Amino acid sequence: MPQNITVVIIDSDLTSLNNITRFIESLGDSVSIEGTAPTFEKGYELVHKKRPMVVIMEIGSDVNLAIERIEQILSRFPQVSIFATSEDKSSETILRVMRAGATEYLLRPVSQTDLTFALQKIGRLWLVKPVEEEAGRIITVFSPKGGAGVTTIAINVATNIHQMTGKSTVLVDLDLNAGDVTTFLNMKPAYTISDVTMNISRLDRNFLQGVIAKHESGISVLAEPQKLEEGVSISSSEIKKVLSLLKSMYKYIIIDAETISERTAIAIEMSDLILLVFILSLPSIKNMQRHLKYFDRIGLGKDRVKLVANRYLKKGDITIQDTEKALNYPIFFALPNEYDTAMMCLNKGVPISEGAPRSQLNQSLKELTKMVVQSQS
Ligand SMILES: Nc1ncnc2c1ncn2[C@@H]1O[C@H](COP(=O)(O)OP(=O)(O)OP(=O)(O)O)[C@@H](O)[C@H]1O
Ligand SMILES: [Mg+2]
Repeated sequence: MPQNITVVIIDSDLTSLNNITRFIESLGDSVSIEGTAPTFEKGYELVHKKRPMVVIMEIGSDVNLAIERIEQILSRFPQVSIFATSEDKSSETILRVMRAGATEYLLRPVSQTDLTFALQKIGRLWLVKPVEEEAGRIITVFSPKGGAGVTTIAINVATNIHQMTGKSTVLVDLDLNAGDVTTFLNMKPAYTISDVTMNISRLDRNFLQGVIAKHESGISVLAEPQKLEEGVSISSSEIKKVLSLLKSMYKYIIIDAETISERTAIAIEMSDLILLVFILSLPSIKNMQRHLKYFDRIGLGKDRVKLVANRYLKKGDITIQDTEKALNYPIFFALPNEYDTAMMCLNKGVPISEGAPRSQLNQSLKELTKMVVQSQS
């Protein structure tokens, strides 16, 4: 991960160049100027040689030429963020330059405040680890029936995975009509998944990074919509787009899914692993039979769909063996019934590893997480 932001400046005006240099130097070690050039051609050579994160580039009166140049840089060096500097205030030019791929449009003469804000934004983006070497793993936690423990399991598997592996992890609340991940984690994020889907046309990694909240455990959280009508309007194709992008940004994407819907179906289809949560009771076993048939029909077998029995009572009427027999399917893991622990952590708004580290439920959730990680390696 880079330690500081590296910059190349292309500017034909010496006063402007000196000012920008001075502003950047005042920011200390976090930003360093790798070189400056008075012409685009020289600047392009510098970009090639230095591979900076940011190119601050003067846009002259020929907007078409400027756009060509932005595209030329980005086609060769797509990771570069371009800050266009221009005297042109017209919204048409701004829009065209931004569409060409510029990250920022700064009016000339460039002000220290504008430049500092823009660089801080880049800093935040780079603080997030870049794409892992391989595409991320999507793990959906899902139950045919409400109240089985999906949110509890999704949250704790997500925080445990991050703690165990140190890898980037995002928890996505796809329970779009009744999600409560933020309550479980005591968070008040500024943005939710509906801010993402409402801006679907401009969705990219930078945008997504800006709206994802960080939880103190270290995981990222894409929160549930705050208003009912926002959740209703989110489509499965929007979900598909968001998940594809997250897959390129995080190593583990844990989904708290709503009961079966078109949107859940998309998440399931895209998942590397589905944890199918249920409680050992007759109605829920019956329901599970129908769902296992559905998974079979869509070609998802035992390698991708794993059963998790929650709130398991050793002395209960229905045993694991009976259930496996009735379903003709192995149970991947059974989590003990520990209502007090689960409720206490829920009321405190903390993961179980934090609220009740010595509990049997915490030990079991850790075991489950280990098996999840192993299944994905
Ligand atoms: N292993 C467990 N032992 C005891 N209680 C549990 C356990 N897991 C979850 N619970 C409790 O069960 C209730 C439902 O859990 P949770 O909200 O996680 O389920 P859900 O499937 O997400 O429900 P919903 O359909 O409302 O989204 C909560 O009160 C939670 O504390
Ligand atoms: Mg839930």
